[in-house]
Amino acid sequence: MKKSLLAIAATAALSMAVATSAQASDVLIGSCIYKFDDTFMTGVRNNMEQAATTLGAEIELVDSQNRQPMQNDQVDTFITKGVNALIINPVDRSAAGPLADKAKAADLPIIFVNREPDRKILDSWEKAYYVGAKAEESGTIGGQLIAEYFKAHPEADKNGDGKLQYILIKGEQGHQDATLRSEYCVKAMKDAGLDIVEVGSDNANWDKVQGHDKMKNFITSLGIDGIEAVLANNDDMALGAVEALKSEGYNLGTDGKDPSKFIPVVGVDATAPALQAISKGQMLGTSLNDAKNQGTAAVRIAVKAANGEEVTSESIGYTLTDGKYVWIPYVRVTQENYKDFM
Ligand code: BGC
Ligand code: CA
Repeated sequence: MKKSLLAIAATAALSMAVATSAQASDVLIGSCIYKFDDTFMTGVRNNMEQAATTLGAEIELVDSQNRQPMQNDQVDTFITKGVNALIINPVDRSAAGPLADKAKAADLPIIFVNREPDRKILDSWEKAYYVGAKAEESGTIGGQLIAEYFKAHPEADKNGDGKLQYILIKGEQGHQDATLRSEYCVKAMKDAGLDIVEVGSDNANWDKVQGHDKMKNFITSLGIDGIEAVLANNDDMALGAVEALKSEGYNLGTDGKDPSKFIPVVGVDATAPALQAISKGQMLGTSLNDAKNQGTAAVRIAVKAANGEEVTSESIGYTLTDGKYVWIPYVRVTQENYKDFM
């Protein structure tokens, strides 16, 4: 009697386990990335693939090549093909509405990542979600890093006027991360009591080469001595600026080089090359934009929703805010802790 009950229990447990994994492996996620040639989104993309493998789901990733009409077509193709969920990194976040409509018409969950649509777009479809990070946090971290450095290093006030002459290199216009990081890094420097002067500001569209070229222009017009700090909205642009500074004999690193020839540069993301630059003393710091947890959260929501299960903080293992949002926190990264992120 006892034995047969146990056997029944074991069989039930086994069939449950089988059912769960069979369900998960039935899930096909279609995912569009605004462009594959983006350092941070490549991290998110790789982590989504890993998360899908872990959950026994399948994910098909396509490159929208920075063209919204192309992305719209890709979504249509995914729907025709019969995917069970969509994870979309919009090219133009203000054009996300029609994508949510397509998902709704096909009764498909749609998870937007990294480029945040309007709340009313998310509200228009109960299975629409957003996974991202609060850009205010990374802006604040960057501003604080510069403020701390300026206070600890009186020589950083190169012209000795008691003010900080800084350059702001911004991401893509219209991207919430560019707007908010720019606003909040300035605010953090002011809140820290610094007297600041913006001597240059320009968009470099998240791109290293453009970051380099914009920085070159600033150096040419202001002179290297007119620049005391650089705040970039992401690491690729910060690294471009570091390259431009290097060709002036600055930021060559602490390794036997002149440490007084350093202009503090901060970015956002904590990409591998940025961590390298921080370790060598060529860049002051950054904040971790957590590609692993953003990718994992998006895939977990997709799989739960595709299986018709309830999406809750408990079921996905990430705090779900207002039934719609997962916010992954940023982490401050400097020479003190960069190794933790390598
Ligand atoms: C990242 C950038 C990236 C952009 C793409 C931002 O959150 O910090 O590095 O280029 O997202 O949308
Ligand atoms: Ca100054």
